[in-house]
Amino acid sequence: MYIKWSTALAALSLSIHHINAQISLDITSDDSIKAAAKIAAANMMSYYSGNLPGNIPGLLPGPYYWWEAGAMFGQLINYWKLTGDDQYNDIVSQALLFQIGEKDNYMPKNQTQSLGNDDQAFWAFSALDAAEAGFPNPPSSYPSWVALAQAVWNTQFPRWDNETCGGGLRWQIFYFNAGWSYKNAITNGGFFQLSARLYRYTGNQTYADYAQKAWDWMYNSPIMDRSLEPGQTPVVWDGMNADNCSDVHQIYWTYNAGTMLVGAAYMANTVSLITLCGYTKLTKNQTGDATWSQRATQLLQATNIFFVKDAGGNTALNSPNSILDGTIMSEIACEATTSCNYDQPSFKAYLSRWMAVTGQLVPTLASEIYSRLSASAASAVRQCTGTYQGKTTMCGRRWYQSVWDGQIGVGEQMSAMSVFQNLLIKNAPAPLTDNNGGTSKSDPGFGLGSGGSSGPRDPYADDPITTGDRAGAGILTFLSLVLAGAGVTFVMS
Ligand SMILES: *[C@@H]1O[C@H](CO)[C@@H](O)[C@H](O)[C@H]1NC(C)=O
Ligand SMILES: *[C@@H]1O[C@H](CO)[C@@H](O)[C@H](O)[C@H]1NC(C)=O
Ligand SMILES: *[C@@H]1O[C@H](CO)[C@@H](O)[C@H](O)[C@H]1NC(C)=O
Ligand SMILES: *[C@@H]1O[C@H](CO)[C@@H](O)[C@H](O)[C@H]1NC(C)=O
Ligand SMILES: *[C@@H]1O[C@H](CO)[C@@H](O)[C@H](O)[C@H]1NC(C)=O
Repeated sequence: MYIKWSTALAALSLSIHHINAQISLDITSDDSIKAAAKIAAANMMSYYSGNLPGNIPGLLPGPYYWWEAGAMFGQLINYWKLTGDDQYNDIVSQALLFQIGEKDNYMPKNQTQSLGNDDQAFWAFSALDAAEAGFPNPPSSYPSWVALAQAVWNTQFPRWDNETCGGGLRWQIFYFNAGWSYKNAITNGGFFQLSARLYRYTGNQTYADYAQKAWDWMYNSPIMDRSLEPGQTPVVWDGMNADNCSDVHQIYWTYNAGTMLVGAAYMANTVSLITLCGYTKLTKNQTGDATWSQRATQLLQATNIFFVKDAGGNTALNSPNSILDGTIMSEIACEATTSCNYDQPSFKAYLSRWMAVTGQLVPTLASEIYSRLSASAASAVRQCTGTYQGKTTMCGRRWYQSVWDGQIGVGEQMSAMSVFQNLLIKNAPAPLTDNNGGTSKSDPGFGLGSGGSSGPRDPYADDPITTGDRAGAGILTFLSLVLAGAGVTFVMS
């Protein structure tokens, strides 16, 4: 009894037809939080039909890119873990396994035209969410969740490129995609997070070494800029020109700070297996813990700029070291100017999640994180009065605004779901590891060579690269990113 498609479908359509109630949120009530997350999840999933006969599992319809779908399935794994509602689990498994690609490393040929290292990493994060949550394991003919993340890591570490800027990964995997000459925070911070999570899950020191390497490079690069307030909190800029490393793209995105924060938190919370006189003991590395906890603490402060006051504070003048200006999470680079592209409204979902997990892994940060998430959630719910295709509970983007801002989309629903459900993190177990409850089996060599250990299972493995409507997707992503920085609205056709 693995994938019960008909059951899953029935559950999905049922939930879609029962969501016309108003969302209300009492942040002191688990039931109320679960109910709010359930509505946001159903609204988000109303965009997804990859599970329906004839459609391709794992893909959102255009203009949503492949990576965002991958991220969405990870948020749904967390949804299940936090709320106990398993109605999407089969759909999630189907999608995560259908998109593993011909070599089991989340590089499906169909996505070549828009496949950056960061896109690939978001699918790996979702595979890790599954491993860390104890999500039902794939059937035995498939790789394990953690092996899929290891396969992604195995493709990424050799891409470390010290020919320019002293190291780092390029944004794009393929030189022919726009963005090849960009070294950015989400790519390198994604690799950092992936390394840190694999280290914590498996205990394998190689991952720690690479997490350290990625951290060191980023910390000393203009991406993590400490020049604004020397010796203090770094700000995390978006990235730099790989052909001119002092050409830095100075814009703030929540997920860039978030991936550094949670990566540091995972590093702070690792335990080592020490074997002494034949006895094996789990030991916390106190030195490493203190160093990384301090980094996580600084990075939490670096997220202050994203917390604004009610009624629309634009905190452009706010600095990470200033006293927290507000308590409501905002994607400050594009919300106030209504210039977000289709990717960006989902970023707050990741910052919410990564902050919540940070609170579990670095308990000294838990209460500050919880208060920011609960204030954000309580404000966000006011945005959930949007109407769309008969639904009256669609969430908008500007959580700081008391009236629906007229925006809807996958990212808006995902961000709302994430900030709601992560209020339940207080009672949730910390991410599992190999030696602490995790049942997903490590396979460090996986994904290298020809098709992984059991060969490709994708029936379309021999398809040539499909250009079609995905052609040039990388260019669009790149342009919209740059233009958003200039405050120009870029509409994707
Ligand atoms: C790749 O595209 C083909 C053609 O649309 C489709 O049949 C196939 O399912 C796709 N594979 C994946 C992994 O998305
Ligand atoms: C890049 O790193 C590799 C391995 O550390 C080293 O062999 C190589 O010389 C380095 N290249 C440059 C240009 O620094
Ligand atoms: C590199 O970028 C910096 C900052 O934008 C600029 O001042 C400088 O002229 C650029 N150098 C070259 C060689 O283009
Ligand atoms: C503990 O962590 C520190 C900093 O990451 C590292 O230098 C040290 O080697 C670690 N010690 C052990 C015993 O793992
Ligand atoms: C640790 O990971 C590295 C890199 O994938 C691998 O080469 C090595 O075999 C792993 N070690 C163990 C003990 O699994």
